[in-house]
Amino acid sequence: MKTLLIPIYTILLLNLLWHSCSEPTINKVSIQDQIKKEAVADHAGIASAHPAASLIGLEILEEGGNAVDAAIATQFALAVCYPVAGNIGGGGFMVLRNADGTTDALDFREMAPGAAHKDMYLDPEGNVIKGLSTNGHLASGVPGTVSGMIEAFDKYSALKDWSKLLNPSIELARNGVELTIREAKALNRYKERFEKVNTRPSRFVKNSEWLPGEILKQPELAQVLEAIRDNGFDGFYKGWVADSIVAEMQRGGGIITHEDLSNYEAKWRKPLIGQYKGNTIISMPPPSSGGIALQQLLGSIEPYDIGNYGFHSKEAIHLMIEAERRVYADRATHLGDSDYYNVPLEGLITDEYNNDRMSTFDPQKASLSSDIEAGTPVPYESEETTHFSIVDEKGNAVSVTTTINTGYGSKVVVGGAGFFLNNEMDDFSAKPGVPNYFGLVGNEANKIQPGKRMLSSMTPTIVLNSDQELKIVVGTPGGSTIITSVFQTIVNILDFEMDATEATQACRFHHQWLPDATFYEPDCFSDDMIKSLSDMGHTLKSRAEVTGGSGLIGKIETIIKRADGKLEIAADRRADDTALGY
Ligand code: DON
Repeated sequence: MKTLLIPIYTILLLNLLWHSCSEPTINKVSIQDQIKKEAVADHAGIASAHPAASLIGLEILEEGGNAVDAAIATQFALAVCYPVAGNIGGGGFMVLRNADGTTDALDFREMAPGAAHKDMYLDPEGNVIKGLSTNGHLASGVPGTVSGMIEAFDKYSALKDWSKLLNPSIELARNGVELTIREAKALNRYKERFEKVNTRPSRFVKNSEWLPGEILKQPELAQVLEAIRDNGFDGFYKGWVADSIVAEMQRGGGIITHEDLSNYEAKWRKPLIGQYKGNTIISMPPPSSGGIALQQLLGSIEPYDIGNYGFHSKEAIHLMIEAERRVYADRATHLGDSDYYNVPLEGLITDEYNNDRMSTFDPQKASLSSDIEAGTPVPYESEETTHFSIVDEKGNAVSVTTTINTGYGSKVVVGGAGFFLNNEMDDFSAKPGVPNYFGLVGNEANKIQPGKRMLSSMTPTIVLNSDQELKIVVGTPGGSTIITSVFQTIVNILDFEMDATEATQACRFHHQWLPDATFYEPDCFSDDMIKSLSDMGHTLKSRAEVTGGSGLIGKIETIIKRADGKLEIAADRRADDTALGY
């Protein structure tokens, strides 16, 4: 790739010049103090991955914006203060449930560029080239976030003031955002990877270590946000920002063109709506696998009295693992972008189908994934991510999961425009049966095709009680673990009767069919529990030992509307997530 030809010292020198005029400032009041894990509110609430973004969203709510207005402002704020996953260079999904009872789902998932093809990540021998779909310019799909926000604004904004939603983020980008401990560490950890793929200096790399409390200013990103504020779709997908993206692609061997950008289209989809023990589950249809898989998981365990088994009892864990094993086998075979592949959606979510899948469930013994294959549902007949949950004063609820895929996406910052591009192409199946970054396998349904959207696990979800009243708004990042984390949080609330904080902070586990192992968070299971599950035939692995990282699973943001009308808002303990309300 051309990037490799650029002498590294040129980039280092440019970075030195870039940063030499602004000495780091250390703020007296740490942003750490603004991180807040729970709130109880009378009117409205928000939980997002970063305190600055939650605050911007809250202010929009207080100023009369509805949940969609707050979501748009929060999305742009996260693009500034949470570059590891917040984005304008990626995509996502929004699930809405309005106070009048109507529901909607917005798909702003990235699309494969026009020049993408099925074998683009294979070498001449047909083997997957490691890293090509995750790092650098070829890893990016055409970004959908900006188009998505515009669609959401046009259809649902109460404020009807686009500038008002963008201005706080423009200010944040220009004046700078204080780094949390976690962010400073992450930027330091990724420095070499940034240097390896970037063709221009970026604000995210400097000579000395980033310190917590230091201010990260992003004037180029401020200009991009101004272009979006002043020119809407054309401000990003045409004009100088599009020119910068295409120039970046050409410098780094990527394939996104002007045509790809101007053809990008966010799509309104019919939300996937199902039932679980009298509650209504509203979630995302394809190109996410999340909604279907969540409904399959809930449908699979519904006949069992899991509430009485007890939270993290051997019986409950075993049942959930066995449901997860079967559902992820289906995901690998049957799910992909329904605009390109006939997903047997209705067939997969029927009770009969999931009961049949669970007919091989043995309450005493683990199945082997090698014995479990995808089922045969009734065929189709016509027909590092971040999440935020918001409820406004009128009771409108919005659940948004948005992503550039892994931490800092492709690591490529668009030269002169200062934002990271996604590495979402890795969510396609690069080769049948070969695991992607998250260890997920896929096949025909999720093969690469120009214009197609890569299969996602993102599961932004809203739950109504049996009176059709708002009950839960929930979602999380976490790649393949998203579905199981949302599943477990919903079961924690509905079956184990936990409040928002308990349900969110409870430890989690995950099984995805292949590899045939259950991964658990640190300190999640006692030695006795591990032994008794192993005796049943389960393979259990500490996620920390396998991944080498913290081993934590997901960053859930939960809002529960209580029977007394108050909102319980919980932000995950696992990172800087912040819950606010009024
Ligand atoms: O859409 C998906 O399923 C993935 N690109 C999500 C990635 C993710 O959650 C990374 N965050 N931890």
